[in-house]
Amino acid sequence: MAIKEELHSITKSIFYIKKMKTIFRILIFLSVFKSFGQESEKFVADLMSKMTLEEKVGQLNQYSGEWAHTGPVTKDGEKQTQIKKGMVGSMLNVTTVKHTTELQKMAMQSRLKIPLLFGQDVIHGFRINYPIPLAEVASWDMSVIEKSARYAAVEASAYGVHWTFAPMIDISRDPRWGRVMEGAGEDTFLGVQVAKARVKGFQGNGLGSTDAVMACAKHFAAYGAAVGGRDYNSVDMSLRQLYETYLPPFKAAVDAGVGTLMNSFNDLNGVPATGNKFLQREVLKKQWDFKGFVVSDWGSIGEMIQHGFVKDNYQAAKVAIEAGSDMDMESRSYKNHLAQLVNEGKVDSKLVDDAVRRILLKKYELGLFKDPFKFSNQKREDSQFNNPAHRKHARDIGAKSIVLLKNEKQLLPLSKKTKNIALIGPFGKAVAENLGFWSTSWPDDASLIVSQFQGIRNQMDANSNLIYAKGCNVNDSDKSQFNEAIEAAKKADVVIMTLGEAHDMSGEAKSRSSIQLPGVQEELLKEIHKTGKPIVLLINAGRPLIFNWAADTIETIAYTWWLGSEAGNSIADVVFGNYNPAGKLPMSFPRSEGQIPIYYNHYNTGRPAANENETSYVSAYTDEKNSPKFPFGYGLSYTKFDISNVKLSKTILKSENDVLTVSVAIENTGNFDGEEVVQLYIRDLVGSVVRPVKELKGFQKIFLKKGEKKEISFDITPENLKFYDDTLNYIFEEGDFEVFVGNSSDAELKSSFELIK
Ligand code: BGC
Repeated sequence: MAIKEELHSITKSIFYIKKMKTIFRILIFLSVFKSFGQESEKFVADLMSKMTLEEKVGQLNQYSGEWAHTGPVTKDGEKQTQIKKGMVGSMLNVTTVKHTTELQKMAMQSRLKIPLLFGQDVIHGFRINYPIPLAEVASWDMSVIEKSARYAAVEASAYGVHWTFAPMIDISRDPRWGRVMEGAGEDTFLGVQVAKARVKGFQGNGLGSTDAVMACAKHFAAYGAAVGGRDYNSVDMSLRQLYETYLPPFKAAVDAGVGTLMNSFNDLNGVPATGNKFLQREVLKKQWDFKGFVVSDWGSIGEMIQHGFVKDNYQAAKVAIEAGSDMDMESRSYKNHLAQLVNEGKVDSKLVDDAVRRILLKKYELGLFKDPFKFSNQKREDSQFNNPAHRKHARDIGAKSIVLLKNEKQLLPLSKKTKNIALIGPFGKAVAENLGFWSTSWPDDASLIVSQFQGIRNQMDANSNLIYAKGCNVNDSDKSQFNEAIEAAKKADVVIMTLGEAHDMSGEAKSRSSIQLPGVQEELLKEIHKTGKPIVLLINAGRPLIFNWAADTIETIAYTWWLGSEAGNSIADVVFGNYNPAGKLPMSFPRSEGQIPIYYNHYNTGRPAANENETSYVSAYTDEKNSPKFPFGYGLSYTKFDISNVKLSKTILKSENDVLTVSVAIENTGNFDGEEVVQLYIRDLVGSVVRPVKELKGFQKIFLKKGEKKEISFDITPENLKFYDDTLNYIFEEGDFEVFVGNSSDAELKSSFELIK
C-alpha cells in the first residue's frame, strides 16, 4: 500500500513538474511573442518616422516583372529607377535568386534601404507541379494537401519568393467559371479545412523561417459567385449567404495566421470588392481583427473606373485606400495620386500610415530588414532543383487526387502483364497539358514532366506492348487521325483513352458556356467504342465536365484532372493498382449546363419534387433531372466498403457544452486494401431561416485492409449546428435534426436527434 501511495505521489509530482514546465514554456513563448511584437512595432514606427509621404506611398506600390502577367501591363521603363528611389514596395513575377537579388540590390540603393517583397502565384507547386488545387481537394486528405503547400513553399522560397498569392479559397458552385480549378470546390465546411491546411503549409513554422512563404487568401470576397460563371462578373447575394457560405474559409485563413489577403475583381451587391469598406474595414479588419495587409487584385483599383464606381484613378486611389486596400497591384493609382490626395487633405494620412505599417510589419516578420538577401542563396536554390522528396509527394498526391467514377466490370486495375494496351487520345504523350493553368514550370522543364505514356509504359512488363495513337487534338474538328487510332485499338486487349480539356481551358478568364468534352474527342471515343475493346477512360480537366454519353456507355472512368509533374506515374499507379483510388468529388458534376449552379446543400423549396420523374408544378425542370450526374463527395474504390449501424450516443443534445457522438461501422468487404472517406451530413429540419437539405459536418478518411472492420465516431456539438439568422446572429436553434452517414452526399444511413437549450 505504502509503495503504491509513494508511486502515486511520485507520479503526481512528475505530472505537476510537467504541467509547470508546459505553463512555463507557454509563458516564455507569450513573452517572446509579445516582445517580438513590441520590437517590430517599434522598429516600424522608427522607420516610418523617417519616411517621406512619397516613400510611404512607394511601399503601397507593386509592379510586375516583365516575365509573366495575368492582366494588361502598363509599360513603365522606369521601374528600376523607382526601386532605387524607394518608390516600390513589392514586385510580382520576379523569381530566382539571380533576378530577385538584382532587384533587391537596387532597393538597397534607396535612401532608407527598405527591402522589396517578392510575390508570385505559387498555386500548385513551383517548378515541380502538384495536382491543381481542386484535384488535391478530391483527396479529402488535409495532411497531404498541407504538404503540397509546404513543399511548394520550400522550393519557391529557395528561388527567392517571399510571398505566394495562394491559397485561393473562393467557394464556387459554378463549373462554367474557369477558376474553380484553383479552389476547394463547392462546400464551405470542406473549404474551411483546406484553407487552414494550405495556409499552414505555406507559412510552415511561421514567417521568419527561411523556408516559409507568406500566404495570401484570395479573392476577398465572393468572386466564385460571379453571375453566369463569367469571369470578373458581378456578384449579387444576401449578406446571410455571404457570411454563411462564402466568408468562412477567409475567417479560417485569418485564424490560421494568414499574412495577407487579396481582394477581388467583382463587385459585391454593387460595390467593387476593391472599394468595399464593409468587406475590408468592417468585416476583415474590425470584426476579424486582421493584422496583415490587403493587396488589390491585378489592376483592380483602376478597374473601379470601368465598373462605373469612380471617375478616374485619382478618385479610385481615394476610394480604395479608404476601403482598406493596402497595396496597389499594377494599377498605379496610389503611386500617381495618393500623395497628392493626402496633401490636398482629401485622404487622411493615418490611412496611408496604417497601410504602410501593415506592409512593413510583414517585411519585418519575414526577416527582410535583418537580411534583405535572406532568400538569395544560390546554393539553396540549386539544392532544391527537382527535389526527389517533392517529386515523390507529387506522385503520391497525384494518385490520391484521382476519382474513380465507374468500374462496372472491375476492368481496373489492369494487370501489368496485359499483352497489348493502346493509349489513345490527345493527352497520351502530351507534357505541358498535365500541369494545369497556373503552372510556373519553365519550358525547359519538359523532360521533368512524366507523360502518361511514359508513366504507363514504365510499369508494364517488358514483354508487353504499349501502342500509342493521338486520335485527335483537344479542341478542333480534325478527324484525320481517327483511323490510326481505330487501328491501334483493334490491336489492343485494352484501350486507355485519355481525353479532356487543354491546360489553358480552365483558369483565369477561361469561363466556358459549354463544358462538354471539347472538339471531336467524344466522336473519337464513340469510334473506338465500336471496336468492342474494353475501354478505360481517363478525363483530364480543371473543372467538372459534362460527358453524358461516355458516363452512360463506358464502363470504366477515372477523373484525373491535371495532376502535375508526376501525372504519368500517378495515373499508372492507379491504373495498375499500386494505389487503390479513394478520391471523392469536391463539386457536383452536372448533367447539363442548364442545371448550373448545382450544389448538394440546396434548400428544399416549398415544392420539392418527390422523385426525379415528377415535374408538374414542383421545383424541377421539365426536360432535365434535378440530380447531378455524379454527386458531391462521390468516388469509388477497387474494393467495397459497407457502412452500417449508425448509432447516436443520445437523442437529445442539451446546452452549449453538450456533445453527441455518432458512431458507425465500416467494413472492407471487397478484395483490396483501401481507403474510404466516411462523410457525416446533418439536416436542420426547421429553422427561423430555411436550412439546406444536407450539410457536411465531418469526414474521416479510413484505411482498412480487406476483410477489416472498424467503428468510427464523429462528435456533434451545438457549435456545429450554428448558422446565421436573418439578422446575421450566429446562433443555434432548438429543434429536430437528421444525421446522415455515407460515402457521398447521397448518404442515406440516417438517424435523428433533438437539440434543446
Ligand atoms: C489574378 C490573381 C493573381 C494576380 C497576379 C490576377 O489576374 O486574379 O489571382 O494572383 O493576377 O498574377
